[in-house]
Order: sequence, then C-alpha cells, then structure tokens
Amino acid sequence: MSLIKMLPKNLFIALTLTICGPSFSQVNDKEILVGTVFPMTGGIATYGQESMNGINLALKKINHEGVKGHIIKLINEDNKSEAIETANAVRKLAHIDKVIAILGSVASSHTLAGAPIAQEAKVPLLTPASTNEEVTKKGDYIARTCFTDGFQGEVMAKFAKENLKKMKAAIIVEASSDYSKGLAKVFRESFTKMGGTVIAEEYSYQSGDTDFRTLLRKLSRSKPEVIFLPGYYEEAGLILNQARSMDITAPFLGTDGWDSPKLQEKAGEKGIVGNYMSSHFSAEDTDTLVSNFVKEYEAAYKQKPGAMAALGYDGIMVIADSLKRAKTLTRSDLQKAIVTTKNYKGITGNITLDKFRNAKKSAVVLETTPHGNEFKFKVSP
Ligand code: PHE
Repeated sequence: MSLIKMLPKNLFIALTLTICGPSFSQVNDKEILVGTVFPMTGGIATYGQESMNGINLALKKINHEGVKGHIIKLINEDNKSEAIETANAVRKLAHIDKVIAILGSVASSHTLAGAPIAQEAKVPLLTPASTNEEVTKKGDYIARTCFTDGFQGEVMAKFAKENLKKMKAAIIVEASSDYSKGLAKVFRESFTKMGGTVIAEEYSYQSGDTDFRTLLRKLSRSKPEVIFLPGYYEEAGLILNQARSMDITAPFLGTDGWDSPKLQEKAGEKGIVGNYMSSHFSAEDTDTLVSNFVKEYEAAYKQKPGAMAALGYDGIMVIADSLKRAKTLTRSDLQKAIVTTKNYKGITGNITLDKFRNAKKSAVVLETTPHGNEFKFKVSP
C-alpha cells in the first residue's frame, strides 16, 4: 500500500498544500526564478519587445552583483497580446514553474485577467506599465511601479484646457479596452470640471480595426477643437493618418499607449504632426540617471528606448531590490518588501508605493513629430 493511501485525507491535503501550496516557490542555492508575461507578438508587440530589452539590460547588472548569493533566472512568457493568454501564462508560472514573483503585463485588460490568478496563488505580481485604476484593487499581492490613469488622464485634460486653450473636446475610445475606457472617463470628468465641454457621444472602435473614416466623418461634424484618443499605437497611428488625410486639423491628444516606435510609421509624416501625448519617460530628459540609461540602451540595441524599455528596466530592478530587502526568499516576504518600496530611484522617476500599491510618479508631455517624440515638460503629481 502506498504511503499516500495510508495517510488520513485531511493530512494529505495539508501536506500537498505545504509542498505545492501558496508560499512555495523554487529557489535553489543558485537561482531565484522570476516569471515575466509580455506581449512579444500580436497587436501590441513593441511593448513586449521594448520591455524585454530593458529587463535584460537591468538583469545583467543585477546578476553581476547577485541577490543574496543567487542570480535571478527569468522564465519568459509571451501573452500574444491577449488577455486569455495572460491568464494562462500567470497560471503556469505560479503553479508549474513556481516562480517567486511575476513581472507583467502591459495592457491593463491583460493584467486584469492575470491578477486574480496571481492573487489566489499568493505570488507577487508587479506590473511595470498597467495604469488602469482597477488593476491593483485585485488584491494585496498585486502592485505597480507606474502611475495610474487617474493622474495621466487629468494631466492631458489640463494640457488641453490650459496649454492649448481648447474648450470643446471629442473622445475616441477602444471599446474593449479597460485602459481606454478608464481614461476616457477621467478625461471627460476633468475637462468638464475645468469648464470645458466634451461632446456627448463617444466614438468607439475595436482592437484590430483598420478603417476609421466613418467614425472620423461623424466626429468631424461636431467640430471638436481637440480630440482625446487614449488607445494603443496600431489603431491610434492609423486614426491620425486617416484624420489628416480627411483634413481634420484639430490636435489629437494621446496617452502612454501611443509610446511605440511604430506610431510614427502608422501615422505617416502628415498624420504625426501637431499632436501630443503623455508618457512615463522621455529619452531627451537631461537627468543623468536617464541619459546614462539611454546611452547604455543605445549601445546594446542600436535604437532609442521608449517608455516601455525604461518601465521594464525599473520593474525588474524593483523586484531585485525587494528580494534584497525581503526577510527570506519566499513569496510572502517578497510581497511585504515590494509593497513597502520607498524612494527607489528609477529611470522613470522616484518609486514609492502607497497603501494601494500604486506609485505616485511624474508624467511627461511629449509632442509627436516625424523624427520622434519631443519632450515638452514634466508634471509632478
Ligand atoms: N498603460 C497602458 C495600459 O495600461 C500600457 C502601456 C504602458 C503602454 C506604457 C505603453 C507604454 O494599458
């Protein structure tokens, strides 16, 4: 008779939970396993590619020094730019690979799909980039090192009203994106509160759409002075392109989802000019921490880093820093260390997590030009 059969049922379950359960993760005497979940392929693949570039740059430094005598070994998952794949990847990393923490993902709808699984498994999940307010509300094991859309949306509403002096705005929203819908709501509320008017109707599209002319024709009838477009680069770029070819001249305002080298390509020379966006980082920032990072990144990858590269870099650095501060190398002690991150000097700004596990950080406003995004100014929270 096997040992398992001889054990009373409750004891067996308790043993199984102890061995495979929530706080168990694979740390051997050499390696600490950390999982990553990023969109390496599919509709928002530049986010994943830039993130992994930043992460790998940071990892070299982390492992050169070591973490409590260990090196960090990454297990990288591609979520293919899909929510369901994010959930599957988090499940695999938490239960099969038994990583000590997960870094990811980027799109808020994706992270929102993975977060409840990480929370239930009690594996710390740190997103470097998902800005939707709901993300960190999924539980105490979910944290982020970026600002939230409550802040970003307000920054752009203020910019429209105070810097551009526009009174009448229209909003274009991606219907199935929590990120886009959340930002549309914040912009509408802030812009209205400041005395501006937002056209009642919201113009919406679906991820993967390529022809926006009907939407734009309808929108131009209401004669907006400024157009808020909180979307991701593929569709946003095409919208800019088609709008300018239809002689819609009002400036478009975007958010961090525009931050991709592909935006310029999709929008074209004519489409890109005269628009503004908020983001987490500018490669033109003169801060020495930033300019050193830009130099190292360019040397390694022969291109300028976008926001996602800097966010990925900071994300893995904060995990390494938290591992060093954690009492023991367990998921639960790591969680405690992550949520008490204070004054960590990141490339994307100073990172201190508040009691809701969100980072209060400055945003940058950039002007989109054919040669890349031009730094306008920084806004502190
Ligand atoms: N903030 C976006 C979201 O939550 C993701 C993103 C971050 C995209 C940074 C680009 C750069 O969906």
